[in-house]
Amino acid sequence: MPPTPTIRRAVIPAAGLGSRLLPLTKATPKEMLPVGDKPVIEHTVRELVASGITDITIVVSGGKSLIQDHFRPNPSLVEQLRADGKDAYADAVEEVGELARQGHITYLDQYGPYGNGTPVLNAARAFGDEPVLVLWPDDVFVAQVPRAQQLIHAYESTNCPVLALMPMEPADSHRYGVPVVNEDLGDGLMRITGLVEKPRPADAPSSYAAIGGYVVTPAVIDELREQTRRWYEHRQGEVYLTDAINAYARNRAVYGQVISGRWYDTGNPADYLVAQMATALAHPEYGPILRKLARELDDDTTSTT
Ligand code: G1P
Repeated sequence: MPPTPTIRRAVIPAAGLGSRLLPLTKATPKEMLPVGDKPVIEHTVRELVASGITDITIVVSGGKSLIQDHFRPNPSLVEQLRADGKDAYADAVEEVGELARQGHITYLDQYGPYGNGTPVLNAARAFGDEPVLVLWPDDVFVAQVPRAQQLIHAYESTNCPVLALMPMEPADSHRYGVPVVNEDLGDGLMRITGLVEKPRPADAPSSYAAIGGYVVTPAVIDELREQTRRWYEHRQGEVYLTDAINAYARNRAVYGQVISGRWYDTGNPADYLVAQMATALAHPEYGPILRKLARELDDDTTSTT
């Protein structure tokens, strides 16, 4: 049984176009692209359920119904598979439906200005006075303690908003929000005073990347509400969660938790291929086959050069 955490709710924003992965994402939502033997969003849902989250909201837009189809239980398919003696397949189908049941997955249509703050605010209408986890569905973690659980733990010890961090190559700073680290408190916990969104390497305030995992508190939601109100006044730019966190951090404490484990970004073609290859190589059955192929291809290249 997963632990009973102080945080019960999570939001997965899944309304984005996936433009960095076009044309792969022309008809298939990027959240449904396979990584290993599961679609990428299932890795996130499994992580949340394993961390004791019992209320998951997936914020979607048009063209994302495959996500719903994937998680919806399908008793008639299970029955047919069992009648055909294909119990292993039936079990696999049932397991996904069970995941949706444990996580009480609900779906919400995104409405409002562009930007990754909007789905969080959309989902916030159902929140009480409680913290929630926000996880982008394009990161896959392989960790002994799930990333979500590491974030919850950091929240429990600080009672403040928390961002998931990973060490980053300086040249990659233009792809991420980079935290301003004020104090290293040990065990990967950092006190931070803000985030610079996608700085040039020379302007990066630290060598960590914020990697799309957040504990958001009601006061951060208030900041998001304020950003959105201003957006409707000026109708310019986008509503970013980073801006709300920065506004909050101006006079209140925010923490970063460096996540222990391996992180695979699947949001762009090169990293997506790396994620696929790494999960395939780690597979007990398929890993050895791929390693053998890699050696053969390597030998071919060596003998032709
Ligand atoms: C978003 C955040 C950024 C974060 C990144 C992680 O950017 O704004 O701070 O580092 O996710 O994946 P996006 O990749 O949506 O442009």
